[in-house]
Amino acid sequence: MKVKKAVIPAAGFGTRFLPATKAVPKEMVPIVDTPTLQYIIEEAAASGIEDILIITGRSKRAIEDHFDKSYELETELEKSGKTEYLAELQRISSLANIHYVRQKQALGLGHAILCAKTFVGNEPFAVLLGDDVVRAEKPCLAQMIEVFDKYQSSILGVQEVAPEDVSKYGIIKTEDVEKDIYRVRGMVEKPSLAEAPSRIAVLGRYIITPEIFELLENTKPGKGGEIQLTDALCTLAEKQPMYCYNFDGKRYDVGNKLGFLQATVEYALARKDLGAQFRTYLKELLGE
Ligand code: UTP
Repeated sequence: MKVKKAVIPAAGFGTRFLPATKAVPKEMVPIVDTPTLQYIIEEAAASGIEDILIITGRSKRAIEDHFDKSYELETELEKSGKTEYLAELQRISSLANIHYVRQKQALGLGHAILCAKTFVGNEPFAVLLGDDVVRAEKPCLAQMIEVFDKYQSSILGVQEVAPEDVSKYGIIKTEDVEKDIYRVRGMVEKPSLAEAPSRIAVLGRYIITPEIFELLENTKPGKGGEIQLTDALCTLAEKQPMYCYNFDGKRYDVGNKLGFLQATVEYALARKDLGAQFRTYLKELLGE
């Protein structure tokens, strides 16, 4: 089976980024000049994904507007000869077939994924979290799809995290398989360092087989009173082989303030049009 569909959950409250997220979806907060969600959709499109379902909620309308055509703006740009901007806007609205469904209550990531059941049907699908960006030479999801093509099983995108960060993530109990690939032998959501089976953390990218939906339907609220994807994945890993893959690239959690700042600085430094000037500015600022 091939992975052709992706689901991007983007219905969370974004409380870690208040007050910005009171009226602006955190997935639309820009890194330099591009909304976080656009980087993620570009990653999915560059990985061969044809259809993307975004799980949205109330006060998330800006997301739909951003990926829609904008006739008025396009006409204005055309009239004023701003062809570069026009081409960029047209590119954004044709990145992939984008579909939407609303999660009526933010009951957790597992619940958000369950909202994708009808869209996904009986195929393996990718999940990219709406506030996690990965800067990589080869798109992170493309790397994971290669691993899926070999193993035909659920694949979780992981990296080793610092001991002080273990309690922020789903942590995997691993068994070595080959370089950068491990069999999943268990999983704990946001454990303390003492409880953690390793420091291998799931970082916002998944390929999941459709059997997850039945398990999600039967998953009771777990940590934080939310329906946890980790709990359902844990059960799935007992029923069928599941692997995790140590992907190549740097991942930023844009949903927290420090992660957002790191992404902003590093993406700006990497930009052809801004990088050199920005680097000079930073050096002056730091008195180097
Ligand atoms: P997070 O836990 O990072 O998002 O979920 P959050 O709940 O918005 O964050 P805080 O803690 O309040 O700041 C990861 C992704 O899952 C989505 C979020 O939008 C985010 O992209 N999500 C989370 C949903 O779609 N629905 C939910 O019920 C929870």
